[in-house]
Amino acid sequence: MSIGSFPATRFRRAKSSPALRRLVRETALSTDDLIWPIFIRAGDDDETPVPSMPGVSRLTIDRAVKAARDAADLGIPAICLFPYIDTALKTETCDEAWSPDNLTNRATRAIKAAVPEIAVMTDIALDPYNINGHDGIVRDGVIVNDESVEALVKMALAQADAGADILGPSDMMDGRIGAMRAALEAAGHSNVCILSYAAKYASAFYGPFRDAVGASGLLTGDKNTYQMDPANSDEAMRLIDRDLREGADMVMVKPGMPYLDICQRASTEFGAPVFAYQVSGEYAMIRAAADNGWVDGPRIMVESLMAFKRAGCAGILTYFAPDVARALA
Ligand code: PBG
Repeated sequence: MSIGSFPATRFRRAKSSPALRRLVRETALSTDDLIWPIFIRAGDDDETPVPSMPGVSRLTIDRAVKAARDAADLGIPAICLFPYIDTALKTETCDEAWSPDNLTNRATRAIKAAVPEIAVMTDIALDPYNINGHDGIVRDGVIVNDESVEALVKMALAQADAGADILGPSDMMDGRIGAMRAALEAAGHSNVCILSYAAKYASAFYGPFRDAVGASGLLTGDKNTYQMDPANSDEAMRLIDRDLREGADMVMVKPGMPYLDICQRASTEFGAPVFAYQVSGEYAMIRAAADNGWVDGPRIMVESLMAFKRAGCAGILTYFAPDVARALA
């Protein structure tokens, strides 16, 4: 890169009108880049606000179908489902996770029937179904890897059978992607995509999400034996490499904004589709500041998402998706 000296070079020239600024703009944020995570609950025609995520509610399936319709009409390509499971259904063995008629699988079928054009992404991890709030099966206080992978594969197959287009393993067990890919191929689900939560950090930014899915009060200990240390960057590259080799179609970095360096490294080093998850804590911070009038909410929302595109991401999971889609329309 070379730059001339003043006054041959004046950076202000190309900033002097909206037309010129549009011409030299390097990145674009589009509705095509968005995946909208929503929370679902049991019941009919009802919703429950999530206190730590103003503007976000847990929706009953009929309302989730309406939300999917609205999202598709706004041009949002994908919606991602997270279930709030009644405590009575949570166990140590997590069997509800692969029940063909669990909340997520019923919602997937209902959405695919009513709004076939939207891609449905589902979450693969045991935490909503686990009495101790962990993503894997716990034996004598240890989150056991290989037995958890077996459970996660059953969950993946049940979700694919229900019609999910994209599976999102967020559990961070070793070997899950390869095991799921082999099982999907064997079951005839060769077109079901895996968007692996490859670089998922052990983060305090997930706090409001755990409220939303009802896992906060239950979690015993922390997730440090499977989620990543926020101090690590090379390890993220190794995890992404591993997951791509095992059959992930797309990979994710999570959280988003505090890990933009990881997003940039991942998209530069692999050239595979990298997604960022602007997680619940990021959403809550922006919403809280905006609702208090401390920052300009709509502008911060777009600026925070543009950062992911600048860092090379293919797309972003964001609770702001419908708001952004409307702002971009
Ligand atoms: C759980 C899962 C989490 C999120 C997505 N899937 C939380 C966790 O790992 O504890 C977080 C999403 C968010 O904070 O918005 N497997």
